[in-house]
Amino acid sequence: MQRLSRSTRSLKLRPTHCFTRLNHTKVQQPSKDASSTRTTSFGFKTVPEEMKESLVKNVFDSVASKYDLMNDATSFGVHRIWKDSFVASLRPGRRGPMKCIDVGGGTGDIALRILDYAKDHYYDRETTVEVIDINAQMLKEGYKRFKQTMYHNTPQISFHEANAQDLGTEKFKDNSYDLYTIAFCIRNCTDISAVLKEAHRVLKPGGTFACLEFSRVNNPLLEMLYDQYSFSVIPLMGTILAGDRESYQYLVESIRKFPPQVQFAQMIRDAGFATGKDVDGGAWENQWGGIACVHSGVKL
Ligand SMILES: C[S@@+](CC[C@H](N)C(=O)[O-])C[C@H]1O[C@@H](n2cnc3c(N)ncnc32)[C@H](O)[C@@H]1O
Repeated sequence: MQRLSRSTRSLKLRPTHCFTRLNHTKVQQPSKDASSTRTTSFGFKTVPEEMKESLVKNVFDSVASKYDLMNDATSFGVHRIWKDSFVASLRPGRRGPMKCIDVGGGTGDIALRILDYAKDHYYDRETTVEVIDINAQMLKEGYKRFKQTMYHNTPQISFHEANAQDLGTEKFKDNSYDLYTIAFCIRNCTDISAVLKEAHRVLKPGGTFACLEFSRVNNPLLEMLYDQYSFSVIPLMGTILAGDRESYQYLVESIRKFPPQVQFAQMIRDAGFATGKDVDGGAWENQWGGIACVHSGVKL
């Protein structure tokens, strides 16, 4: 069975997906007469809520082909350590084959680690991962990458274009997954609560929600160094390596707009999950002093 759904082939025909760059100068501010328009952050800019999704889409259209290279360059490969430890902490396959959904899965970094972990630790070749992303270009890169792996053309992996906020009840049924992962995606979503609600809906009772995301650094010296690095070096690397300063500027800004650990943990509980206590090592697990952070919860 072909495992690339509603995605890259059909999208090639869609002119809206031909953007290669995001022109941030075109970001409109809400018009004066639309005083009731709800707004949200797009990095440090304020935009009408309904615009954010397409702006985020454009960012990832722009960065898709260089995404893996840029991830390695901007983090000096550290994102690999975070992702390895994220997946290892979930121990996929330890209680037998799992049905997993990786939302905002992009080029498949987490999906590949889940499948490798299950195979390498438990000889499990039945765990499945459905990679979901709003952006067809990112999925296309993931699909290409999986073509080089043993999982290609097996029921273990599939790619689907969908919005984390509303996956769709037809295709993504209630109470159907053992594990829901979301890595470095949720801060890009317009309505974080809606994403959490969807995660809760699709997980089976007892299923695990696990989110890897940039978060708040808890050491003032580290914070100062991290800020300097993020705001000067990363956009510069974006310019040099990908010819795209604005997208990388947005990615850095969006990190600072994301709710801190305690607040995000509360949002996870509000969606119906049980979490640990509000301490590092409880409801969340900081990585590198909070530069990144894993939040998890269980659907009761
Ligand atoms: C920074 S990338 C992370 C990709 C991958 N999870 C990783 O860790 O390498 C964020 C991904 O989230 C996707 N994304 C953003 N908003 C989304 C939404 N509302 N629904 C689904 N995917 C979304 C983007 O298209 C992008 O592929």
